[in-house]
Amino acid sequence: MISRLWAKLGKSSSQAAEPFLTTDNVPEHIAIIMDGNGRWAKKRGLPRIAGHHTGMKTVKRIVIEADRLGVKYLTLYAFSTENWKRPKDEVEFLMKLPQQFLEIELEELIEKNVQVRMMGHKENLPSFTLNAVEEAITKTANNTGLVLNFALNYGGRREMLEAIKEIAADVQDGRLSTEQIDEKLLSSRLLSGDIPDPDLLIRTSGELRLSNFMLWQLAYSEMWFTNVYWPEFTEVHLQEAIHEYQRRARRYGGL
Ligand code: FPP
Repeated sequence: MISRLWAKLGKSSSQAAEPFLTTDNVPEHIAIIMDGNGRWAKKRGLPRIAGHHTGMKTVKRIVIEADRLGVKYLTLYAFSTENWKRPKDEVEFLMKLPQQFLEIELEELIEKNVQVRMMGHKENLPSFTLNAVEEAITKTANNTGLVLNFALNYGGRREMLEAIKEIAADVQDGRLSTEQIDEKLLSSRLLSGDIPDPDLLIRTSGELRLSNFMLWQLAYSEMWFTNVYWPEFTEVHLQEAIHEYQRRARRYGGL
């Protein structure tokens, strides 16, 4: 049965430009590479950090919309293991964003039953960043709604290497046999843990690459790219991406 999302939601959407979304095939997990903050700012003669600041506001809107549409997991690539190469001032600004965001939004996230998680390497993160994220994780641990998973100091290759080393150590110490190593086991040892693989990957800003993001988990994800810069990405763009996803046939290598 195909039910019309907007019929179900009535007039609650202020931007209900997409009449074709169906409720029965909303991606369970959407992962987003939020790109183009710097170029958005440059186009306006603003410093790059202004793009990141506006990008943070987009995060809020997209979290609310994803939740409203029934998405179960939303993973946002907020800082990669390669982003440390950026100028010191920009890195410092980026590190302050999770704290700033959570200071303003945590209360509403709790009200909306959102569960905050982090996927990334904790070392090197300043204590104010880590503390803010850990506080949000603790306060929302029992929430059962949308899982908002921040990829922070995250790198896909490093994630796989560390999982492989951990498995190798288990084999060496006799806790595991090589026969027990399968896709499920490796998946469970990745930073994404029990979160299912993304159904849909969105990347903004016109770049067509993965940039070391969820390399294992994205094996069979549908991908949707847009030229729109992240600070100007709206609820309607998210709806468009989901609509396109709903028109695709996922075959996982079969027919
Ligand atoms: C890539 O754009 C974006 C980032 C490296 C940072 C993304 C961070 C946010 C959108 C804000 C995060 C908010 C929270 C709450 C953690 P870019 O700077 O590489 O853009 P460019 O390619 O145009 O230079």
